[in-house]
Amino acid sequence: MKLKGTNIVIDTAWGDSGKGKFVDVFSGDADLVVRFNGGANAGHTVVNDYGEFKFHLIPTGIFNPDALSILAGSVAISPLTLVDEINELREKGVAISEKNLLISEYAHMIMPWHIARDNLRESARGDAKVGTTGRGIGPLYADRTERVGVRMGDMLKKNFEEIILRELDWQTKLITLMDTEEPSPYLESLSPEKVLADFRAVQEILAPMIGNPLPIIWEAQKAGKEILGEGAQGILLDIDLGTYPYVTSSHPGVTGFSIATGLQQNDISRVIGVTKAYQTRVGEGPMPTELLGEIGDKLRELGNEYGATTGRPRRCGWLDLPSLRYSLQVGGVNSIALTKIDVLDGMDEIKICTHYEYNGKKYDTLPTADAAFMAEAKAIYEMMPKWDGATFGVKDFADFPQEAQDYVKYIEDSVGVPVEIISNGPAREEVFYRI
Ligand code: IMP
Repeated sequence: MKLKGTNIVIDTAWGDSGKGKFVDVFSGDADLVVRFNGGANAGHTVVNDYGEFKFHLIPTGIFNPDALSILAGSVAISPLTLVDEINELREKGVAISEKNLLISEYAHMIMPWHIARDNLRESARGDAKVGTTGRGIGPLYADRTERVGVRMGDMLKKNFEEIILRELDWQTKLITLMDTEEPSPYLESLSPEKVLADFRAVQEILAPMIGNPLPIIWEAQKAGKEILGEGAQGILLDIDLGTYPYVTSSHPGVTGFSIATGLQQNDISRVIGVTKAYQTRVGEGPMPTELLGEIGDKLRELGNEYGATTGRPRRCGWLDLPSLRYSLQVGGVNSIALTKIDVLDGMDEIKICTHYEYNGKKYDTLPTADAAFMAEAKAIYEMMPKWDGATFGVKDFADFPQEAQDYVKYIEDSVGVPVEIISNGPAREEVFYRI
């Protein structure tokens, strides 16, 4: 399938639905690939002729020599992680320069104090922790809102080191107050010599790639070029529309793309919502269809459900249609890419959550992002016929076992959005299109 115009790929749940594979496949034809939210809290693995890569920041468009990959202004950039990724790519023979990577001058930088504050805050919260990835994401976006962030464009300024030191001074005072451990392990990471040395080392590498991507994006859109938006995390982790406080601090849906690019929903041809055939979540927060016993363990093992960034085991459960309907609504999704259906090949029973019950009332859709509602809502299931044959690697929908075809049709009929793409195996080739 060749996408035309502007298309974005987002996750309809809590991240980890396998969207990396689609952005990898689609970026092969794209003119611009725009990563638009989150930071090194995300992670995906790409395997291709150059080798195996675990990316947190670099857009997958980097493997297309004709595409420009953009890290937009709302991405939380760790310059140190970014340079590690650039170096790894260069070592494996991928050319990277200002010709194929553009970093927005507006993007905020993850500084060591963000990582310290993220971890200190999580420890202080005890049982009420969010279960963050520890990559400094919350504190970075908090500083951005407080208007005290350090931005990639600051790297180009003569007084860059002064900007860092001024903020470092304030942040060190804050962390000294927050950290009760003696001696504080975090203060070491904030020594001015170390911070300046780390940033001097990356400044020269990154500076030529820093600029303003907006006019390039707008011109490309007007000229009908192919723009691919690469989302991170998932709609249910949205800071405003997710189950606060168990969310990330950015906008993983179409809103995030608009904020980052200035393009609006009318400018977008397809919003592809990547949906796993069952449910997973990493970190804390409500998950109505979570399976805590043997069946959940089996889904985890068959689906290899371990977080790409932290290695944490993912919580697993049956597909949750009420939360999917909510995501499709708030995420503006008009096309579903269903992933990991092959994992269900190995299951002895398959269920699907059709609606919730809460205070004696039936809810077909998650009516609110309220975490307490979601925690207390009772998932009501329908038993789906299991299948004996395999969907793994099959190239044509008509060759799926009938029950697997019915499972897919049941989902699209229930949510009113077509399943246009199906991924049925980990490899790049194990995907087919129904359009
Ligand atoms: P943070 O984004 O590191 O602050 O983490 C906040 C919540 O989002 C936690 O529950 C994380 O596990 C979750 N999270 C963050 N990034 C990802 C991701 O890329 N995939 C899945 N979950 C994520």
